[in-house]
Amino acid sequence: MELKGKISIVTGGARGIGRAIAASLVKQMSEVIIWDICDEDGIRTAEEIGCKFMKVDVSSFLDVKKNTKDVLEEHGKIDILINNAGITRDNLLLRMKEEEFDAVLKVNLKSVFNTTHTVLPSMIKNRWGRIVNLSSIIGVIGNKGQANYAASKAGIIGFAKSVAREVATRGITVNSIAPGFIETEMTKKLPDTVKEVYIKTIPMGRFGTPDDIANLVLFLVSESASYITGQVINIDGGMVM
Ligand SMILES: NC(=O)c1ccc[n+]([C@@H]2O[C@H](COP(=O)([O-])OP(=O)(O)OC[C@H]3O[C@@H](n4cnc5c(N)ncnc54)[C@H](O)[C@@H]3O)[C@@H](O)[C@H]2O)c1
Repeated sequence: MELKGKISIVTGGARGIGRAIAASLVKQMSEVIIWDICDEDGIRTAEEIGCKFMKVDVSSFLDVKKNTKDVLEEHGKIDILINNAGITRDNLLLRMKEEEFDAVLKVNLKSVFNTTHTVLPSMIKNRWGRIVNLSSIIGVIGNKGQANYAASKAGIIGFAKSVAREVATRGITVNSIAPGFIETEMTKKLPDTVKEVYIKTIPMGRFGTPDDIANLVLFLVSESASYITGQVINIDGGMVM
């Protein structure tokens, strides 16, 4: 019940990892608002887990600004921000279209600027805040066919460390999680042959689950993690060590 009275925003929370994070925050009594572009999944998830859904395109600064204002008018503050929304547009670099590079950078990285920039003033005012970003081990080690995705996820790490330094004395922590391969719609798209190759690189011999990520998020937003900031924590079954 530690998060009673805390207002949380989870971007991309309509399904997958974001949904598991939103559900675990709800279980700890936080009031959770999912921001997602997919209203079908968003409305269903909100009903099923007991939170609020707002249709927000996090890659749009204006959309984020407007919806932040709406949340602040209704709830008066935002305590927890989970930057989870993300997409892939995989292609080998020489085949990669400019639109594929731009789309991934806009949804995965520019969105983190949009939300952090608009939500931070409320946290600074309250001298308390928790920001957790979903990066990826691909942002640390790179991957064939994912130059756009790796660049966006590496960008998140640098962005988060910089903001962590800026707000460290204000009771606000900013951390990033770098998952390996997690079972969601995003990884369902991978052909079985590719999955088998990836599984061989994971010491635990399997993909992780969305709850593996949600468990760490719960710790990072808790008081127990108040001295942890600017970190990147891998959850990958030992893939990168
Ligand atoms: N699944 C994995 O193996 C894995 C590994 C490492 C990192 N990640 C990262 O974790 C996060 C969640 O991944 P997932 O596997 O649950 O993905 P997913 O595709 O299942 O869910 C992503 C969610 O983000 C939403 N979204 C997409 N664009 C949006 C936008 N512009 N505005 C608002 N919402 C938007 C989608 O509608 C969807 O609900 C992503 O950032 C992803 O890059 C996932």
